Amino acid sequence: MNYYVLTLFPDMIQQATGASILRRADQNGLITVEAVDIRSFSANKHMRVDDYPYGGGAGMVLEAESVYRALCAVEEKVGRTMRVIYLTPQGKVLNQIMVEEFAREESLVLLCGHYEGIDERVLEEVVTDYVSIGDYVLTGGELGAMVMIDAISRFSPGVLNNEASFQFESFQDNLLEYPHYTRPKIWHDRQVPSVLLSGNHKKIEKWRHQKSLERTKNRRPDLFRRSYQIFCIWYGDERIGVVAELLIKKLSRYGKVLNFNRRKLRREGGMFDQQDLVIFVFPGQPTEHSLLDELPQRLAGRNTPFILLTVGKRKYQKDEEEKLKLEKRGFSKLAVFEILSDLSKEKVEIERISLEIRKKILTIQLDM
Ligand code: ADE
Repeated sequence: MNYYVLTLFPDMIQQATGASILRRADQNGLITVEAVDIRSFSANKHMRVDDYPYGGGAGMVLEAESVYRALCAVEEKVGRTMRVIYLTPQGKVLNQIMVEEFAREESLVLLCGHYEGIDERVLEEVVTDYVSIGDYVLTGGELGAMVMIDAISRFSPGVLNNEASFQFESFQDNLLEYPHYTRPKIWHDRQVPSVLLSGNHKKIEKWRHQKSLERTKNRRPDLFRRSYQIFCIWYGDERIGVVAELLIKKLSRYGKVLNFNRRKLRREGGMFDQQDLVIFVFPGQPTEHSLLDELPQRLAGRNTPFILLTVGKRKYQKDEEEKLKLEKRGFSKLAVFEILSDLSKEKVEIERISLEIRKKILTIQLDM
C-alpha cells in the first residue's frame, strides 16, 4: 500500500513508520508513506496557505488552491486518480470493515486539515471519503491519518509475520480477545489457568471462546449484543465443502461448519436463535434435489438471520421459494450471494463474499 498524506506538518507523519512493525514494513518495501507538504504548493509568495473565513468568525481556513495543487502533483506522479480521504470529526467513524475496504486499494491519499477547516469547494471537488477516528476533536487530521495507516497496513501482505494473526483478532466475531499468559507459571501467587498447560488444543480453544464471550459480555455489553455465532451449513459435492470451510475461516474464529450430506446431521437438524447466523452453502445447480426440498424436520430458527450462498451459476430462480421455506421455519433472509465455481478464482471470490457478508452483518448490527 502506498499512502500519500497531504499535510502542513510532514514531520508528524514520518513518525508513522518510525518504529516497530510499520518501520519494518516500510524498510521491506511493503508499504510506502509519503508526506506531502501542502505549504510548498502555496500560490502565495510568502508561502501562506490560510486566510480569514468569509462571513467572519474565529480561526483561519486552509485555502482551496494549495490543497488542490498538492493533490494534482501527487496524482501526476502516481499516474492516476486515487481515493482521497479527508480526516475530519464530521466523517464516518472508522471501523474494521472500513479499514478492510480501504486496504483493498493500491494507494490512498489522506488529507489532513488544520485550523478551522479547509475551503469547502476543494473538498467538494476532490474528496471521496470523509473519515473520523472517533467522536472527539483533535487539533488536526495527522493523528487520524496515522491511525488509518496503522490499521490498514495490517492487511498488507507480509506486514504481520503470522498470516493468521490478523484474521483472528478482537473484532472478527465482535468478541474481545481472551486473556493471554506467558512464563512463569506462578507470578505474585497468581496461577496460569491449568487448561492452558494441558496441551489439549480442543479444550484450550473452547476455554478461550468462553473467556472471550464472558469478557465481551462484561466489558463491552454493547458489542456482545451485536455478536453472532456463525454456522455454515453445506450440501453437495466436496468442492462446496471446501468453500464452506474457507469462508468460515474468513468470517469467524469460532464458526462451525455442518455438512448436511451426512444423514446424522440432517436428522439432528438444529435449533438456532437470534444471535446465530446461518449461511447455507448449496450448489447453484442442484444435482438430484435441492436440500431445501427435504429440509430436516428439526431445522428451525427463532428470528435467525440467514444467508444463502450458491456455488456455481444459478441455473434456476428459486430465491423466493427458498426464502419462503426458510422463513416459515423462523429464519429471516439477510442476503443471497452467488460464487463462481472456477477453482482458480475461489480464494479471491471467497475474499469478496466474506467482505460482503461482514458488511451485511454490520448493517443489522448498526440497526440494533
Ligand atoms: N481531525 C480533527 N478531529 C478529528 C477526528 N476525530 N477524526 C479525524 N480527523 C480529525
